[in-house]
Amino acid sequence: MVHFSLDNLDKMERFYRANFINALTGFKSPVLTGTVNTQGIENLAIFNNIVHLGSNPALIGFVNRPREAAPHTLANIEATGVYTMNLVANSFFRQAHQTSAKYPEGVSEFEQTGLHSEKRGNCPAPFVAESPVKFALELKEVIPIRFNNTYFVIGAVTDIYLEPTLLLSDGCLDLPKAEIIASLGINSYHTVGEGTKLAYAKP
Ligand SMILES: Cc1cc2nc3c(=O)[nH]c(=O)nc-3n(C[C@H](O)[C@H](O)[C@H](O)COP(=O)(O)O)c2cc1C
Repeated sequence: MVHFSLDNLDKMERFYRANFINALTGFKSPVLTGTVNTQGIENLAIFNNIVHLGSNPALIGFVNRPREAAPHTLANIEATGVYTMNLVANSFFRQAHQTSAKYPEGVSEFEQTGLHSEKRGNCPAPFVAESPVKFALELKEVIPIRFNNTYFVIGAVTDIYLEPTLLLSDGCLDLPKAEIIASLGINSYHTVGEGTKLAYAKP
């Protein structure tokens, strides 16, 4: 096997290292995070460092890069306390990727990418109309990670919307049927095939 030491990592070109380290933790499920600022301007950005924290209450966390690198989603969530997450299907992954571009404050990625914003229920944050699985969250905690100036943002799921045919009898979601994609690192998108379901493991 090829071995990489800390010294090798240090010497890597910045973008090469970012690709390399981002791929180390394997495939992720990217979401489009929809927010709105206090002036009513919407923001949409792709995130894939998402983690399930618990089902009851339903809590989801994500990692936000340092504020200077990714300021808008975090600022809007802190200002309004609400946001949406929208799973990405094969039909719109290119537009989803484009939301990662550094648009200036006040420019809506919905307008820039052609993805459609929709309002649902009482949630002021926008959902992505094209997404077949989406949910709203209420901010619970922003934990600063001092070691590298990132943030762990924790939200409670308040409302879930999905295409009815995707919900299976055991509560699982048939995401391959909706052609929900996976991402690897920050520049590679992958279709997902049918899975194999196993029974709850017992000793
Ligand atoms: C596939 C992919 C996954 C990404 N995941 C994250 C992530 O988990 N956390 C993050 O802070 N930025 C992530 N980014 C970068 C953000 O999308 C980018 O910084 C975006 O401009 C943030 O926008 P904002 O300032 O509107 O919040 C990712 C980018 C791509 C292409």
